[in-house]
Amino acid sequence: MMNKTTKATFSSSAEEQLSTPQRYHSLAIMLHWLIALGIVFMFASGTYMLYGDLSKAEQYKLFQIHKSAGVLILLSVVARVATRIFTHPPALPSGLSGRDKRLSKLGHLGLYACLIVMPISGWVMVSASPFGLPTIVFGWFEWPHIPGISRNKPIETLARTIHWTTASVFLSLIILHLGAVIKHQYFEKINLIKRMWW
Ligand code: HEM
Repeated sequence: MMNKTTKATFSSSAEEQLSTPQRYHSLAIMLHWLIALGIVFMFASGTYMLYGDLSKAEQYKLFQIHKSAGVLILLSVVARVATRIFTHPPALPSGLSGRDKRLSKLGHLGLYACLIVMPISGWVMVSASPFGLPTIVFGWFEWPHIPGISRNKPIETLARTIHWTTASVFLSLIILHLGAVIKHQYFEKINLIKRMWW
């Protein structure tokens, strides 16, 4: 049982931590928001290019845009993972329960896994496609296909299944991520956004 003194010590150290918040590295913050915007765009463009009322030419253009943005996201994810490895993230707030700390680590790991699997499975799919269409990144330069798998239907099918399945898992994790931020930020008054903002 917590007595009054321990309670007071606990809350004052929690307050101390909240009043002097530690942030993620500026580069990690910039990449977090850039990639978050990119992911919203990928879900929207991916859905519209498949189910929107588009002519073949418009569909081709949107595919190119989706693939181009995917390449930029892949490069940003590489930079993000490197930033995560080479900079220290702030310790999780002491106000979080042990269970929430474990769930947050697991959730972040899942989000990183999806961030890696989504663009790579897309790249494999395009490289193995029977159509062999090139990816011209925003009309700027050609992104190469993965060598050795061109026009390979079984690999294309496998990559498509992975892309689709991961998209659903990703969407669920993003919803949980947002739910967790809202819960901690607004109901438990633990200022997490400050850690991911300048
Ligand atoms: C939509 C795509 C998003 C993705 C893929 C994403 C991914 C991630 C990942 C992987 C982390 C872990 C960072 C690390 O420990 O290295 C993280 C942290 C965080 N995200 Fe997101 N995020 C997204 C959107 C959002 C949004 C919309 C918000 C705000 C409403 C948000 C708020 C935060 C906060 C506050 C943290 C820091 C948690 C902490 O204090 O440790 N994220 N995000």
